[in-house]
Amino acid sequence: MRKAPSDCAADPAADPAFTKHGLYQPILSNKMSPLQIALILGSTRPNRISPLVGNWVKTILESSGTSSPQFSILTVDIQTFDLPAFNESVHPALINDLSKFTSQSARNWNHEIAKYDAYIIISPEYHAAIPGSLKNALDFLYHAWTGKPAMIVTYGIMGGTSASEGLRVILENGFKMKVSSFAPRLEFPGRDPTKNNSSQALIEAMQGKLSVETMKFWEGKKQEIFQGFKEVLEFVAK
Ligand SMILES: Cc1cc2nc3c(=O)[nH]c(=O)nc-3n(C[C@H](O)[C@H](O)[C@H](O)COP(=O)(O)O)c2cc1C
Repeated sequence: MRKAPSDCAADPAADPAFTKHGLYQPILSNKMSPLQIALILGSTRPNRISPLVGNWVKTILESSGTSSPQFSILTVDIQTFDLPAFNESVHPALINDLSKFTSQSARNWNHEIAKYDAYIIISPEYHAAIPGSLKNALDFLYHAWTGKPAMIVTYGIMGGTSASEGLRVILENGFKMKVSSFAPRLEFPGRDPTKNNSSQALIEAMQGKLSVETMKFWEGKKQEIFQGFKEVLEFVAK
């Protein structure tokens, strides 16, 4: 069950948003206001396509006609946090106060992630796993999002299957998150098994382009995206 509105608590510690970990998490949304969903972009290279894939997913969900519960999807771009390679001296589970992370960027990243009710992670597959920059960013987290709901959306030659499976283990085992059973895998069309599964769509993606043909090919994944998101909304409501 989502927490009660917290707007009248004079003492933050008396507020239901002030958790046993001493984290004061501003609950942006209450039962009357939209759920806050973060759409996290999982790649950081200069000519990445994750912003295009993320925007495609966001547009689908925003045009789904789902009006109850109301939700807002905000894009969170790891690249803008300028995180160092993981440099905390302890496991973030031991950092109960988000203001105590070593660097300002890690503090900002944790505070940003703590704001949301649930997450959609958009990740490509790099060398049969999630990108190192995404894993590094996740390593800085714990209390900001442990236990919360998430949906995984991956893309790649085979839909980013290995990245999807690996990310599920990280979120479920590492962070005890509730991950939707639907985890859409967006496959680049036209792969040629005789050419190492390469395709025009893959070559374009590496150059930062997402073709109309590729997005048309992904239309068939819309239902899975809706289903996964529906699960996430149900997890939040429980
Ligand atoms: C370092 C690197 C490794 C890659 N490894 C894989 C891979 O293992 N499987 C796959 O399907 N695609 C792989 N690709 C291709 C990516 O799916 C494709 O370049 C995609 O556009 C990457 O997402 P991004 O544009 O958001 O960075 C790799 C790309 C890069 C840059």
